[in-house]
Amino acid sequence: MSEIKTIGVYTSGGDAPGMNAAVRAVVRTAIYKGLKVKGIKRGYEGMISNDIIDLDRQSVANIIQRGGTFLKTARSMAFMTSEGREKANENLQSQQIDALVCIGGNGSYTGANIFNQEYGMPCIGIPGTIDNDLYGTDYTIGYDTAINTALDSIDRIRDTAHSHERVFIVEVMGRDSGFIALDVAIAGGAEGALIPEDLADWDKVITHFNRPNRRKKSFSIIVVAEGDEQGGALILEKRLTELYPDLKIRSTILGHVQRGGSPSARDRILASRLGSEAVKALLDGQKSVTVGIVSDKVVHTPFDLAIAGKKSVDPALIELAEILAI
Ligand code: F6P
Repeated sequence: MSEIKTIGVYTSGGDAPGMNAAVRAVVRTAIYKGLKVKGIKRGYEGMISNDIIDLDRQSVANIIQRGGTFLKTARSMAFMTSEGREKANENLQSQQIDALVCIGGNGSYTGANIFNQEYGMPCIGIPGTIDNDLYGTDYTIGYDTAINTALDSIDRIRDTAHSHERVFIVEVMGRDSGFIALDVAIAGGAEGALIPEDLADWDKVITHFNRPNRRKKSFSIIVVAEGDEQGGALILEKRLTELYPDLKIRSTILGHVQRGGSPSARDRILASRLGSEAVKALLDGQKSVTVGIVSDKVVHTPFDLAIAGKKSVDPALIELAEILAI
């Protein structure tokens, strides 16, 4: 028999479409299993300021289709201090919260892990970030929606690129990883993909542009991840213009548009599965793990491993993007 009676759920770090669906699944599963649920506003900030609300079945009605997070989110500096965590623990105790479900990325996992080590509070992590760069799951909540949003923009840019016979450099999100850039480059028929994982990417684009037998294209799209070591779209536009003064080059930075919007069906289903599994993991006695889905199976990964582990982009996809760009 589990000793857990009340679960606290929060979203933390960058928002991602599908976070609401995950909170809904946590709340409904917990109630189904006879538990109480409280929502902690603004992630760790709300833990420290005691901004905590009761949640019932009705509180999460009509949110499965909404982007963002109704619990709000923040990146908390105060929770990085031991004083901040002590205050958070006092508040959770006064709210009679016995266990936590944290929806967020690596920084959020790190906070949950330290909190579990210091105060013994069981915490389950749910991977929520558009970047898809979390170890322990094939896909993170928000990624599918984000790539479809980026792709929609690229298709529109393609129209203008074609009409004006221009080269467009499109910068997508991905501070440390190129999952978004590589997938939308392939799906958007781009001529180049620049990602932090491929240190030779710029040279490859230039080699490709210089090929004597390069197909005469009147327009072209190059996708760059914001975290690429070469710099963002504006820097690349300048460098490409210096090398090819005859080309008409423009840049577009898609930015936070990729973080908003109604979650795709895939993200809603992923969020629903993971939210429910997080509650089940707590009731099964798990104390410090993330839940993820790998090859369509639910997996639990200890926080230490999920935080330190590096999820790699598939080299075969890098090659595919190159092959299809000829
Ligand atoms: O959610 C991850 C991410 O989208 C990164 O790709 C990006 O660098 C970062 O968030 C920007 O977040 P913010 O503007 O909220 O600090």
